[in-house]
Amino acid sequence: MQQIILKPALHKFRTAKEFAETFGLNADDLILTNEYIYTPCFGGLHLPAHTVFQEKYGSGEPTDAMVDAILAEAEKTGSKRVIAIGGGTIIDIAKVLAVADGERVDGLYDRMNDLSKKRELVIVPTTCGTGSEVTNIAIINRTRIGTKMGLVSDHMYADSAVLIPELLSGLPFSVFAASSIDALVHAVESSLSPKATSYTQLFGYRAIEMILRGYQVIAEKGPEARRPLLDDFLTASNYAGIAFGTAGCAAVHALSYPLGSKYHVAHGESNYAIFTGVLRNYMEIRSDGPIQELNRYLAGLLDCGTDVVYDELEKLLNHILPKKALREYGVTGGDLPAFTESVMKTQGRLMANNFVPLDADRVLKIYRELYE
Ligand SMILES: [Fe+2]
Repeated sequence: MQQIILKPALHKFRTAKEFAETFGLNADDLILTNEYIYTPCFGGLHLPAHTVFQEKYGSGEPTDAMVDAILAEAEKTGSKRVIAIGGGTIIDIAKVLAVADGERVDGLYDRMNDLSKKRELVIVPTTCGTGSEVTNIAIINRTRIGTKMGLVSDHMYADSAVLIPELLSGLPFSVFAASSIDALVHAVESSLSPKATSYTQLFGYRAIEMILRGYQVIAEKGPEARRPLLDDFLTASNYAGIAFGTAGCAAVHALSYPLGSKYHVAHGESNYAIFTGVLRNYMEIRSDGPIQELNRYLAGLLDCGTDVVYDELEKLLNHILPKKALREYGVTGGDLPAFTESVMKTQGRLMANNFVPLDADRVLKIYRELYE
């Protein structure tokens, strides 16, 4: 059994300048980023690299149309190395750029098992959530199909992942909140996965501890208290990425995708809308083994009994990001069977990692419980 994958070389720098000098950013590089990130941190360095600002091709999470347009632009530059500096959207698109060979997104999904690396890839995350800098998957909203799907290939691992905590200093609280909850979900889902090992749990459990301890400080002192903790959150997000890079995510992500796709709910927030609903249903089916271990661990961190651990977890998370019922996002009762069908048909990759198997009836039950 595979114990843990430790793929990209990991680097940490104090400043953007140190990173640019060490990596020798040059005219053969394509920097995929957002202008609001690049200009304050890198603009003064006057780097000779090509820059592509993702927001010029659409807003929000990556869609097939957005990625197709950026692929076309990247081809014009003839660049040999892609440097992703940004959040989940930037990182996911950069992974596609690393393997694209002239075709568009649909073509890449069609030959997913046959991809190879065409450009060296360096990933610099600027949120504390996705952990995507250490995984081999990109999630794209396939608008022509109507759901988000993972494009997966070992050739999509970065060659280098680079952590620069200073790049998180401009992160608005709402983005910090959604991205760090995503990291918490990665840590929890991967720790309950049948593919979890003592190695992945080492990273997953430590990430859970760092994130919840940070949230407790923020709950007590307010949002500004996050600033000295950004290095911790970036590191925890990376740990969670290492954990789910091997052990996988599961039903929380699977059930959140139709919600995110149809109602444009940000990834971390849609995960939180689903999170405890899935855990409570796991407990109805099986309450011993890894979930019992997890609940004991959470109860220790939250200083509560294991019988109320999810209530206490929600209370803490609600200080960071208030949980909403699905109907508050505009979801209708009629959406729930369609969401269920979409999960069962298109999210098999994730549903295979569930703590216990969840069938269509159970998925519909979870959505119904979260609806009101
Ligand atoms: Fe996620």
